Amino acid sequence: MNMKITFKNSLKEAKKDTLFISVGPKNKDEIIKENGVKTLFLKCEEKMTLRKLFLLVRKMVAMAKGIKAEKMAFDFSDFKFKSMKLGDVELGELIGSQLDFANYEFVEYKTSTEEGFNFVKEIIISGVNKEIEKAILKGHTIAEEVNKTRTLANMPGGDMTPQILAQKAKEAVKNLPVKVTVLGEKEMEKQKMRAILSVGHGSDEESKFIIMEYYGAGKKETRGEQSRTKPIVLVGKGVTFDTGGINLKPSNSLLGMNMDMSGGAAVIHTLALVAKMKLKKNVIGLIPSVENMASGKSYRPGDVIRSMSGKTIEVLNTDAEGRIILADALTYSQKYKPEVVVDIATLTGAALVALGERASAIFTDDEDLSKVIEKAGEETGDYVWRLPMWEEYENEIKGSLGDWTNDHNKSLRYGGSIYAAIFLYQFIKGHKWVHIDMAPRMTAMQGENLAGGALGTPVRLLYRFIEEY
Ligand code: BES
Ligand code: ZN
Ligand code: ZN
Repeated sequence: MNMKITFKNSLKEAKKDTLFISVGPKNKDEIIKENGVKTLFLKCEEKMTLRKLFLLVRKMVAMAKGIKAEKMAFDFSDFKFKSMKLGDVELGELIGSQLDFANYEFVEYKTSTEEGFNFVKEIIISGVNKEIEKAILKGHTIAEEVNKTRTLANMPGGDMTPQILAQKAKEAVKNLPVKVTVLGEKEMEKQKMRAILSVGHGSDEESKFIIMEYYGAGKKETRGEQSRTKPIVLVGKGVTFDTGGINLKPSNSLLGMNMDMSGGAAVIHTLALVAKMKLKKNVIGLIPSVENMASGKSYRPGDVIRSMSGKTIEVLNTDAEGRIILADALTYSQKYKPEVVVDIATLTGAALVALGERASAIFTDDEDLSKVIEKAGEETGDYVWRLPMWEEYENEIKGSLGDWTNDHNKSLRYGGSIYAAIFLYQFIKGHKWVHIDMAPRMTAMQGENLAGGALGTPVRLLYRFIEEY
């Protein structure tokens, strides 16, 4: 639930039932009650950093929730640290977004008690000017879309099909200037999107290709002719449940695979956010959506698929389905003559092996683009780390029946995320492109002061990237 933010001149204006926050270098965090007024003394490090600040703001909310406080109040200046070179506006946006981010819990399927769910309902902030207020409210709007991304991703697999995801995309941009077009299987046949169709074949649910178009940049004029500014295209993996297909996943790997559409969810709500904030940019979202099921109609190991690009894909493992559907989506993206393409996918378990759960893996052949994405990640808390994608890796995915295999030669056990990336590269070479393998950041980890389940990554990063690009 998103909280109400109220700005006051002084904290004295807050009522007694409010939890007051005081930040300072203490030995520990503690809540002290004096004359009926509760104050949370939040411990902070002497040398504050941006990374620690994200955690601190979230800890304040987590602790308030811990004692079921519904109202809290703090002074903005408490979060201004001398050791940091952070402007007021940046700090405001950070606080605004982290408050709501930390307040979130997925309760859609829980029965409420009489007292209701345990959310902070109101925050009173003093010590701000109009500019800071605006920044805080902007952060609040960003978090709203991040939290909606989490709710979409957290939906159980039985209640999230390609059809429902397409419906959710339309709902997300209702009353906003974003056009949503949904291709069904017949239309995809016409477009020769055999890669997406093959992966979705085993499911009773119809596969969908969701297209979202936002044209916020004015038209450009060259030699008297009007043309659109080249768009930023976001491509999100929308596997609504990944059983692995005929290469069925082992039992303990199946749980959580309802979230295999997290990349798609992030794209949907980034578009909603960009439109809400009226950014003067052209942004396109493409979401290939399928359910990867094991049935008599499933695609098989050994199948060779002719993708939309004309290149063929030799299926070595039906569980490496994400890269197959993304191949067609990346091909489709070229229709827009994009300025840059960013794909976001819960693509490989190997990314977790490489990085743990603390950063998404990114891949690109463009140094500058890599730097921009890394910076946006660091500034927003959607951390990323670049892995190599050298052309030598292509040797291990050359097919014997088809052009490219969807898994690397099994005499080599390692580097799974890189092979997935180098596979995608075959369908977008020559274009400015970055691939974000967000499998490591699909769910929150302990100690992040966040509810378990989906994280809504990398909506904040994408928004910052689009804003500044
Ligand atoms: N959706 C999974 C990757 C995944 C795993 C995401 C864990 C989030 C958490 C993907 O489709 C997959 O199954 N990848 C395989 C590829 C392999 C068969 C080459 C993997 O990572 O094991
Ligand atoms: Zn899979
Ligand atoms: Zn998958």
